[in-house]
Amino acid sequence: MRNILVAVLLGMSILALAKQVQAQTWSGDSIVNPLTASPGDAAKGRMIVASRQTGLCLLCHSGPFPGERFQGNLAPDIGISVGHLSEAQLRARIVDPSRFNAGTIMPSYYRTEGFNRVAPKLAGQSILSGQEIEDVVAFLVSLKASALQ
Ligand code: HEC
Repeated sequence: MRNILVAVLLGMSILALAKQVQAQTWSGDSIVNPLTASPGDAAKGRMIVASRQTGLCLLCHSGPFPGERFQGNLAPDIGISVGHLSEAQLRARIVDPSRFNAGTIMPSYYRTEGFNRVAPKLAGQSILSGQEIEDVVAFLVSLKASALQ
């Protein structure tokens, strides 16, 4: 099962979704500064997270998405995870989860180094763009606010 997932995810990063990556500044387990000058859009972020083409988060995670069938059970519920992570920690976990768990099955959505055998035309490109990462982070932060109410 996991091998199939990894194959799907590798395929996904090889498709037209690849984006150019800008440098990020890590501080411990966090990326404090947003990756883009324009703020994230939570509504777009929700679409990316729920999308079966771009984010694919629900392949592994479940979350507060009553309309989405077949949510994953290989990873923590996103709606619960946001409760114990700051915005900067959430950004870091989407950019490069392998920094937290070298053997993780979660893809690094905004990393370009450390991969083996990348096709030359895809070198330096990531799964999501910086703006898409910020949209996802804005959505996750909005879940955090609604969880506190
Ligand atoms: C292939 C499976 C997979 C996909 C796809 C995936 N994740 Fe994960 N994610 C995991 C696993 C497994 C963990 C648990 C920690 C680990 O093993 O790295 C995790 C951890 C996390 C965490 C930290 C949870 C915590 O409680 O510390 C967040 C936040 C998160 N994922 C968000 C996302 C988002 C947002 C997406 C889509 C953009 C996504 N994940 C896509 C498998 C996945």
